[in-house]
Amino acid sequence: MRHPIVAGNWKMNKNAEETEDLLNDLINQLPTDKEVEIIVAPTFINLASAVEHLEFTNISVAAQNMHQAENGAFTGEISADMLKSIGVHTVILGHSERRSLFGETDAIIAAKVNQALKYHMRVIFCFGEELKERQEKQHFAVVENQLRNGLFQLEATAWENIVLAYEPVWAIGTGETASPEQAQEMHEFIRTTIRQQYGQEVADNTAILYGGSVKPDNAGEIFSKPDVDGGLIGGAALKAADFAAIVNAAG
Ligand code: PGA
Repeated sequence: MRHPIVAGNWKMNKNAEETEDLLNDLINQLPTDKEVEIIVAPTFINLASAVEHLEFTNISVAAQNMHQAENGAFTGEISADMLKSIGVHTVILGHSERRSLFGETDAIIAAKVNQALKYHMRVIFCFGEELKERQEKQHFAVVENQLRNGLFQLEATAWENIVLAYEPVWAIGTGETASPEQAQEMHEFIRTTIRQQYGQEVADNTAILYGGSVKPDNAGEIFSKPDVDGGLIGGAALKAADFAAIVNAAG
């Protein structure tokens, strides 16, 4: 069965020293008695040290992105094999910033998903509608398309390694959250869509995280919804006390 997950996406924040400091604070402040899986995603250059630092803790490490090719002439890119070789087994793919700022299409993201799974990595697959799409009442169609185009090429068994993160773009970094009801409505729709494609078991076993301005004071209410299995946290993941409070709210 699925279990609660709270993942911190550090984005392009924290140099080497600051990464060490935040990891130490997290080790000291995160609960160890909760049934919550805790993941942090520092920048590429700090992944290896984070893996080492967190070795005997209940916190695991994810990458924020990777390239879809095996290796070769892709200046500036990082492969699944490289991530695996330093002990990173989880990767965030399809984040809205990758889609909007770096031109990642559904097809590119699908290729990345396939490549990550080929290396037996777990994927945190991000998707969500923009404000205009919600205003035009296209949000369900947009989300369904992102799911179909990014993930429905997979066999049912591959879904063991998929975690979903619904992140309405209008709620990311804006301080504007989806209401707990809006989050539940969309999460339920997502689970139904998966059920129609893959059946009840895959739908029931897939964790669907919510992301977008989750903070200590709204996390509890959002996480209490039946189809919300935790969160993907940006800004609030950069402060140990806030991240700890959010993890506590999930457990
Ligand atoms: P935020 O970011 O919590 O700062 O809104 C969430 C995300 O981008 O994953």
